[in-house]
Amino acid sequence: MTYILAIDQGTTSSRAIVFDKNLQIVGSDQREFPQNFPDSGWVEHDPEDIWASVVAVMKGAVQKAGIEPDQIAAIGITNQRETTVVWDRETGKPIHNAIVWQDRRTADFCRKLKEEGLEAEVTERTGLLLDPYFSGTKLRWILDECGRRDGLLFGTVDSFLIWRMTEGKSHVTDATNACRTMLSNLSTGEWDADICKMLDVPIGMLPKVLDSAADFGTTDILGPSIPILGVAGDQQAATVGQACFGKGMMKSTYGTGCFALLNVGETPVVSKNRLLGTVAYQIDGKRTYALEGAIFVAGAVVQWLRDGLGIIAKAADTHPLAEKADPNQRIYLVPAFTGLGAPHWDPDARGAIFGLTRNSGPAEFARAALESVGYQTRDLVDAMAADVGGLGDTVLRVDGGMSASDWAMQFLSDILGAPVDRPKVLETTALGAAWLAGMRAGVLPGMDEFAATWAVEREFQPRMQEAEREARYRGWQAAVRRTMG
Ligand code: G3P
Repeated sequence: MTYILAIDQGTTSSRAIVFDKNLQIVGSDQREFPQNFPDSGWVEHDPEDIWASVVAVMKGAVQKAGIEPDQIAAIGITNQRETTVVWDRETGKPIHNAIVWQDRRTADFCRKLKEEGLEAEVTERTGLLLDPYFSGTKLRWILDECGRRDGLLFGTVDSFLIWRMTEGKSHVTDATNACRTMLSNLSTGEWDADICKMLDVPIGMLPKVLDSAADFGTTDILGPSIPILGVAGDQQAATVGQACFGKGMMKSTYGTGCFALLNVGETPVVSKNRLLGTVAYQIDGKRTYALEGAIFVAGAVVQWLRDGLGIIAKAADTHPLAEKADPNQRIYLVPAFTGLGAPHWDPDARGAIFGLTRNSGPAEFARAALESVGYQTRDLVDAMAADVGGLGDTVLRVDGGMSASDWAMQFLSDILGAPVDRPKVLETTALGAAWLAGMRAGVLPGMDEFAATWAVEREFQPRMQEAEREARYRGWQAAVRRTMG
């Protein structure tokens, strides 16, 4: 039997999953690693922690699957995007902690560039907005802090892992990760010399950009030499895993944050509604583009109920608690803990709760937390519809931890006024990376055959009356406005 090993290097943990040729999971392993918060709004990872956790889960997954490493035909990597690593080419050692996508330290610099009137040009070239979220200003910050010198290499997490796995032989990335750096030209797929100049980033330190299914190098971390044949940023890998290969197909992933991607075909769409233009995947040198809406806090709001408020013991307690809430109270929780992402992009906004009465308690907080995820998705979907002139009867495919909650998915369908499909396989991110690698290795089928294996587990239909839906949503919009500066 032949197997594929998918590595999913996420924001709070690293995972590895062994898939067989029928794309069934035969073993997996997961390891959390430390989060560092050196200052308000700053988030860092030690790249050595990331590396150690990835090596451990690769070995753990293979062991749990009960297979031999030489049965693995290919490795696929998917990763937290935008997180920025700089290391020394000679020693392989990072010169600074990785600055994580959530980190807001470059907000002032982004504001300055905006005041200089540069945002339109940045969007035109990269599809992105001038926000600290992306790698470019984080890389500049590290270079300013540690000094510019020869022999430094930049990479997003995929790139750093491949460098380590190939013992410095490959300094590469894929098109989906490259387009999140704010250094890559969305139309040409090449590093943009003018943006690099704007940010004072030496273009020579950037990795070579390959297709999402390509020869990224080989690794003997597990003993035998195994090729790395698939790489995609986690949200793009989920888009692939959800088989959103047709123009107009859409998925939304509920992890720490929520990321919705709409396939817009082979020509990039520049958003007029503050969404991001991004590469969905690049196969055989051909880029397929997406519009993306990124929300920074989705599952993290449940973590806050548990760790911040202490009103639940574990995430799964949220839904039973929410069901006990008084239906007559309309409470809005805007979880702008680290500012607001799409479509508002306000790094200075902070969270707030509106509508509390003497009768409000933990159940109402839990319900408002879950509802906030639905409302935020509606913000994104409305912006997408406005950008492409309507979504017709597009169905939203969902995945990620929170999609397991029937309650949250029913509310999502209600507030969107549209059906929501939950697939049988919820591990879509790892699945996407595994398919890219296995397809490249020639052991998995091509796109159409793979898409035909996608199957729905449950379809949620809207039940809420139109008038109630719109009244509730107007209340949400008013609440969001009140959190913004
Ligand atoms: O853009 C950030 C995203 O890639 C992180 O995803 O699943 O690690 O929270 P996740």
